[in-house]
Amino acid sequence: MAINYSEKIPNNVNLTGDRTLQRALEHWQPKFLEWWRTMGPSDFAAADIYLRTAVGVDAAGWASYGQVRMPDYRWGIFLADADPARTIGFGDHMGEPAWQQVPGEYRSPLRRLIVTQGDTEPASVEQQRLLGHSCPSLYDLRNLFQINVEEGRHLWAMVYLLHAYFGRDGREEAEELLERHSGDADKPRILGTFNEPVTDWLSFFMFTYFTDRDGKYQLKSLAESAFDPLARTTRFMLTEEAHHMFVGETGLSRVIKRALEVMTELRTDDPAAVRNAGAIDLPTFQRYLNFWFSSSLDLFGSEVSSNAASSFATGLKGRPDESQYEDHRCVHVAFQLAQPDAARGITTESIPLRNAMNEVLRTSYVRDCELGLKRWNRQLERAGTAQRLKLPSPRFHRAIGVWAGVHCDPDGALVDESEFRRREGEWLPTEGDRAFVQSLMQQVIAPGRMAGWIAPPERGINSLPIEYDYVRL
Ligand SMILES: [Fe+2]
Ligand SMILES: [Fe+2]
Repeated sequence: MAINYSEKIPNNVNLTGDRTLQRALEHWQPKFLEWWRTMGPSDFAAADIYLRTAVGVDAAGWASYGQVRMPDYRWGIFLADADPARTIGFGDHMGEPAWQQVPGEYRSPLRRLIVTQGDTEPASVEQQRLLGHSCPSLYDLRNLFQINVEEGRHLWAMVYLLHAYFGRDGREEAEELLERHSGDADKPRILGTFNEPVTDWLSFFMFTYFTDRDGKYQLKSLAESAFDPLARTTRFMLTEEAHHMFVGETGLSRVIKRALEVMTELRTDDPAAVRNAGAIDLPTFQRYLNFWFSSSLDLFGSEVSSNAASSFATGLKGRPDESQYEDHRCVHVAFQLAQPDAARGITTESIPLRNAMNEVLRTSYVRDCELGLKRWNRQLERAGTAQRLKLPSPRFHRAIGVWAGVHCDPDGALVDESEFRRREGEWLPTEGDRAFVQSLMQQVIAPGRMAGWIAPPERGINSLPIEYDYVRL
């Protein structure tokens, strides 16, 4: 369907064909814009930014690029093309036609899934709102804002579903998505990681590598949903999400590259020397990685979960790439789960696979995270240093699930609390690390210039040169 950009809300869902829905969304739109103004990127509202805007769902030309002021960004509603023959691919309803409407009995859990996903989108914009003031380059500043406007569009995607399919409850939920705020003492965002402050760019790159990748896995499992509009909207969101993780992976790789340059110049692996030269030493990098990885693991929820079992059974939420599995029903199948045991250390318990779906998702997420680690370690190897980076054990530093509050070292071995406290500073960012990283966060905005703690990217955006003025202040 062609997109009519003269409409208030660009869309491919034929909004003009549903006056009531259109009016409801047009009523929500100014509230969204007010939220963007007060809780979105601080300053830069008047800057012209080289942004990508989704204009359709055609793989060949789904986005257009151009100078845009963020408040004028066209946040639209786009669902991937419908497949009229689509059937449900897993669970108890497997083989039945996908749902075009919400079945009454699943209304409340489905709404909860959509609200939880929707809540993360504006949350991340709030978390990142001050980062523009300390950007390492115009290229990076533009990428930050690109991610921010797209998270805004992802909020639109979820709000569309709430308005279109959940009536009055849905409209109320849409309002509340603008009323909870990241880190707010009274009305925080729903999930823990989305209340963590992201006040430096090392955290931002860790967030986009690890936390946006959790988003990818959640979206991929919702893209399997029996509720077809949810499947179609999340499938299109994944197209945008890929860029967010690209920013994380390349950002972290550039931080490593810069550290290696300094180590080569100074002919030393000494972290203190790297810091003195204004780059981020690898042990500090590893501690930030440990923090953001373990926090993001919690987003998948508890290892044993009756909610996860019923989401799978009912068809609300599948596994990422469900078609790759042989068994799509998973009844009478056991899953071996390692868990802490007060008397015997660690034991393995057999639980029904459906109850272990969170753990199944988490495991495929961990494998995906490993890919970046492999690339970064090749970078270290080529540079001739013996230092390596590592994902900590999923048992380490967990706040949710069977490992919550259990003290483990990054290799997953149980340690007592006093040892954990004694060695915490080797494993997780210290006050000193945070102060050091913060001290590097000086805004660089001359076209083509880079802050000293990060190497330039390999190429610019959309075939433009690196020194292009991606943000015109
Ligand atoms: Fe998103
Ligand atoms: Fe994202």
